[in-house]
Amino acid sequence: KKPQARKGSMADVPKELMQQIENFEKIFTVPSESLQAVTKHFITELEKGLSKKGGNIPMIPGWVMDFPTGKESGDFLAIDLGGTNLRVVLVKLGGDRTFDTTQSKYKLPDAMRTTQNPDELWEFIADSLKTFINEQFPQGISETIPLGFTFSFPASQNKINEGVLQRWTKGFDIPNIENHDVVPMLQKQITKRDIPIEVVALINDTTGTLVASYYTDPETKMGVIFGTGVNGAYYDVCSEIEKLQGKLSDDIPSSAPMAINCEYGSFDNEHVVLPRTKYDVTIDEESPRPGQQTFEKMSSGYYLGEILRLALMDMYKQGFIFKNQDLSKFDKPFVMDTSYPAKIEEDPFENLEDTDDLFQNEFGINTTVQERKLIRRLCELIGTRAARLSVCGIAAICQKRGYKTGHIAADGSVYNRYPGFKEKAANALRDIYGWTQTSLDDYPIKIVPAEDGSGAGAAVIAALAGKRIAEGKS
Ligand code: GLC
Repeated sequence: KKPQARKGSMADVPKELMQQIENFEKIFTVPSESLQAVTKHFITELEKGLSKKGGNIPMIPGWVMDFPTGKESGDFLAIDLGGTNLRVVLVKLGGDRTFDTTQSKYKLPDAMRTTQNPDELWEFIADSLKTFINEQFPQGISETIPLGFTFSFPASQNKINEGVLQRWTKGFDIPNIENHDVVPMLQKQITKRDIPIEVVALINDTTGTLVASYYTDPETKMGVIFGTGVNGAYYDVCSEIEKLQGKLSDDIPSSAPMAINCEYGSFDNEHVVLPRTKYDVTIDEESPRPGQQTFEKMSSGYYLGEILRLALMDMYKQGFIFKNQDLSKFDKPFVMDTSYPAKIEEDPFENLEDTDDLFQNEFGINTTVQERKLIRRLCELIGTRAARLSVCGIAAICQKRGYKTGHIAADGSVYNRYPGFKEKAANALRDIYGWTQTSLDDYPIKIVPAEDGSGAGAAVIAALAGKRIAEGKS
């Protein structure tokens, strides 16, 4: 096989399939004016989230009330739960804007996302932590090591080492954890295993990303995740956060900074501005939490493969593709994760032979070249829509805070691995602002690869928390 020109021509696609492609183009394309309208509504919703009454977007104060100086130092542990893997990290902060990490990843068993026994989750995390500790510290640990727990879900906090889960997102659905503080649940299992580790901070992945990147680059304005979920964090000022009134102790000046985990995956749950297709409606209705995370369900990695699958199933049912084929392997929700559309977009062959293999090997479906061209175009449309919509959160925060320049630190599987995503996201931001620069390196607000938020970020936050306690601050 010899890779040829990347883009295949559509010239040989028959008329009935071309019509389908055109229809998909119509429903999945989001023009610049729509992005601007989405951003405008987004700003209003962010403001509502900060008000006493609250709104759809949780805007959760993360109790990180200092900017890192870059001088934070020491050894910390970090755990990251919320994507596809559980990660355990040992972080050595250098105290000079540098850090070293050693980490292990533990595959979260698929059934764990929806286990009926919540203890299983905490036991799995504590066991993984113990395995890691045994490997890293064969002589044992003499002093208690502080641990930052990155728990990437909406968790309300009245202090840094607390997190009351508001609701599961990203397909997690485990009973008896919502409305409870998750820190004691994890600490209990750690203590049971006799490991001298104290959970000193609960962190959202976006807040970790914000702080890790700020530690190395003070131009950082936001930490954002384009991954299994989509979300962002930024520093606001306490006086601007109406719902904090009465919750701050007297030693905290109203000008103090406060990191906010927006949880903007829940934007537009009331369906005012987002251009939803019938596939988005199906995803929502069939999810464990209908009516929630509307923005995330259209743009994050947990859903992109499923949107593609639903659109293809629809074409099949209408008799346009996969004629007379057995779809039993394909007709199952979430059998296509986002690595599939990513691979299809990356297929280097004119006739999309990698895609051919993929459908044959994974699902036992034979595809024609024309069908594969339709599939590839559909992937492009779904990926592009995700990139374009998901930067509206960035534009909204920057406009709300009056940031004209700066760096947006980004992480997550979609940002790092979905072909073309970085460029599409940057250009969507350009379209919202109407920038005229021709190179994305010259855009005034630049989306840049983040530092390791749930490792280094969690460690810096744990260090900041320890420093506040040492200084007697609340
Ligand atoms: C989901 C979670 C949020 C997290 C994001 C990215 O939106 O609710 O807490 O930051 O995914 O992982």
